Amino acid sequence: MAKTILITGGAGFIGSNFVPYFCNKYPEYNIINLDNLTYASNLDSLKECEALPNYKFIKGDVCDKELISQLFKEYDIRGVIHFAAESHVDNSINNPELFLKTNIQGTFNLLDSAYKYWMEGPSIVKQGYEDCRFHYISTDEVYGALGETGSFSETTPYAPTNPYSVSKASADLLVQSYFKTFGLNTTKSNCSNNYGPNQHKEKLVPRVVELALTEQPITVYGTGKNVRDWLYVLDHCKAIDLIYHTSKPGETYNIGCNNEINNLTIIKIICNILDELKPRQKGKYEDLIIFTKDRVGHDFRYAINAIKIRNELGWKPEASFDESIKKTVEWYVKGVTHDSFV
Ligand SMILES: NC(=O)c1ccc[n+]([C@@H]2O[C@H](COP(=O)([O-])OP(=O)(O)OC[C@H]3O[C@@H](n4cnc5c(N)ncnc54)[C@H](O)[C@@H]3O)[C@@H](O)[C@H]2O)c1
Repeated sequence: MAKTILITGGAGFIGSNFVPYFCNKYPEYNIINLDNLTYASNLDSLKECEALPNYKFIKGDVCDKELISQLFKEYDIRGVIHFAAESHVDNSINNPELFLKTNIQGTFNLLDSAYKYWMEGPSIVKQGYEDCRFHYISTDEVYGALGETGSFSETTPYAPTNPYSVSKASADLLVQSYFKTFGLNTTKSNCSNNYGPNQHKEKLVPRVVELALTEQPITVYGTGKNVRDWLYVLDHCKAIDLIYHTSKPGETYNIGCNNEINNLTIIKIICNILDELKPRQKGKYEDLIIFTKDRVGHDFRYAINAIKIRNELGWKPEASFDESIKKTVEWYVKGVTHDSFV
């Protein structure tokens, strides 16, 4: 009988890149995408999945404990890949409570339902459920901020600094506790900043494209020197697939690609691509850049040491940054995104 895997948050940015990849690669799985369709989601990104016989969408909230436990029973869920989250740091500063609810309580509900459905008690797996696995998508932001040098490894102590990263770190530790205390078969991955299609326009890459093409000031926090490690979203999806299928239980893997770029530089790269694709009538897009007051508690730098996933699982990023960022900007320019983007 086909195994059913529950994917949460599949209508968001990374989830909507992951779901088609996963459904097409594993026709032998039934995939349920559970998403409550917040402002950050877009079901149009999953149009190609609607015709697939192994795909089903369910609108629902990970905070709804009864719904989650009912889904496990009704569909005999044999695996969970958990993306659903509130994901924008600025929103977490304005409305932290929602982040605690969705990111912590939601993750707890999923873990607890998986534990109760797959296991008889601590370290006793129900017969036939031995290979059921729970994978949690975490972030490099749980490690806090770095200075000019160094990088995060899987053993770096957590030091989250804003309500978003605290909520992700808390959920991440809950996952760890369900492995250590109850013996639930969990895995986790902590990834750096992703770029690619289907991202909500509140995030840096689509936001810059929109502001530039509508001739609005392109605002940059502080000096623009904050550094992130930019990974193409499909490389992240492939890493999750690999961990989900080949990792030992209880493991955590950092995912990143040594592609450290500061915010101002990435904004200028996007502007340069736009200069080629859609030149302004006068001047260059980077002339629109203005600097604003820094985000409160803005982490200076994140950098990932991804040696463990490279050495143990043989993952490596495949996308070339120059090509993929160009492809991504072109995608946003076509306006195939939320609302009446551009
Ligand atoms: N975007 C990145 O660069 C990045 C990097 C590392 C880790 N992550 C993590 O990856 C995951 C996905 O990130 P993203 O950028 O795709 O986020 P996103 O905000 O684009 O998408 C989140 C999705 O979760 C859904 N969702 C939110 N609350 C829900 C709820 N209560 N019940 C059901 N669904 C709900 C939303 O509707 C949306 O479809 C998150 O857990 C995030 O922390 C993201």
